[in-house]
Amino acid sequence: MHKPPPAPHFVQLHQTDHAAVRAELAAGLLAHPPHASPKFFYDALGSRLFDAITELAEYYPTRTEAALFAQHGADMAQRVPAGVVLIDLGAGNCAKAASLFAVLRPTAYVAVDISVDYLRGAMGQLQQRHPERPMLGLGMDFSSELALPPAATEWLARHELGGAPRCVFYPGSSIGNFNPIDALALLRQARAVCAEGGPGGGLLIGVDRVKDKAVLEPAYDDPLGVTAAFNRNLLLHTNALLGADFAPARWQHVAFFNETESRIEMHLQANGAQTVRWPGGERAFVDGERLHTENSYKWAPADFDGLLREAGFGPAQHWTDPQGWFSVFWAPV
Ligand code: AVI
Repeated sequence: MHKPPPAPHFVQLHQTDHAAVRAELAAGLLAHPPHASPKFFYDALGSRLFDAITELAEYYPTRTEAALFAQHGADMAQRVPAGVVLIDLGAGNCAKAASLFAVLRPTAYVAVDISVDYLRGAMGQLQQRHPERPMLGLGMDFSSELALPPAATEWLARHELGGAPRCVFYPGSSIGNFNPIDALALLRQARAVCAEGGPGGGLLIGVDRVKDKAVLEPAYDDPLGVTAAFNRNLLLHTNALLGADFAPARWQHVAFFNETESRIEMHLQANGAQTVRWPGGERAFVDGERLHTENSYKWAPADFDGLLREAGFGPAQHWTDPQGWFSVFWAPV
């Protein structure tokens, strides 16, 4: 008898509520000032444009973080307990977590993303390379609430891993796309997920740091215009979701560092007065009016350390590149 080849298990929890999405988009467009959530960047083209951004010379976060994992991964692994369940938030192609398997040696891997469709290919290949390691793909929207669903805790129990320590992994400085209040709420929930496992668990998280505008601003307004295309693509995605009639060529990409709020802001600025219509609504924009599409908060390490403490974590430790641009924090439960 042949043993069946090992395969990841998948659970899709998030179901898109199309009416709620349209209502959210319309409410943002009608607000003063108008705004749209950065989650609307990521249709198929937007995800590819984001991948292209990470290849740009000006966009330092991805490669700086990768270098930190390559250089300090073994040291990081000293803090993470043996036999850990690695819970990867926003896993996508699973590449960052997979690059740490050799040093962290997780006993199981749980990849979380909004849709298991994003996870299937990458997890299937990863499972072939690590046949002994149980793998679960979870399709859920953790940005509104992060908790392991019963299907996941049952899966862990089936693999006798209910009492294993847990490491929540949140790389890429995605925490920067939450305002500090929402970031704190997410960190508290991440801590609760870790605390429900065995002792020694914690959070491994990538955080982009405050730095000179001369470095920050080109990272979000590159000379090739890839970030501009990424930003404008939100309008095409909105047209598809809401049935709106945005003309992307009439909107200009704007990105700047707001020092008071310690964040990069991205906007789309109307090139000439124009009215955008969609079924059941319309919005007139005056020339130069801005649609706010994203904030990307930049943290001073001491402030992020304080946020982790406020979220209930123990004393954290972090690793930083020689230029002090990016940090990876380990925060124990
Ligand atoms: C996904 N996130 C961490 C990126 C960032 O840097 O805030 C999104 C991004 N926006 C423009 N460029 C990249």
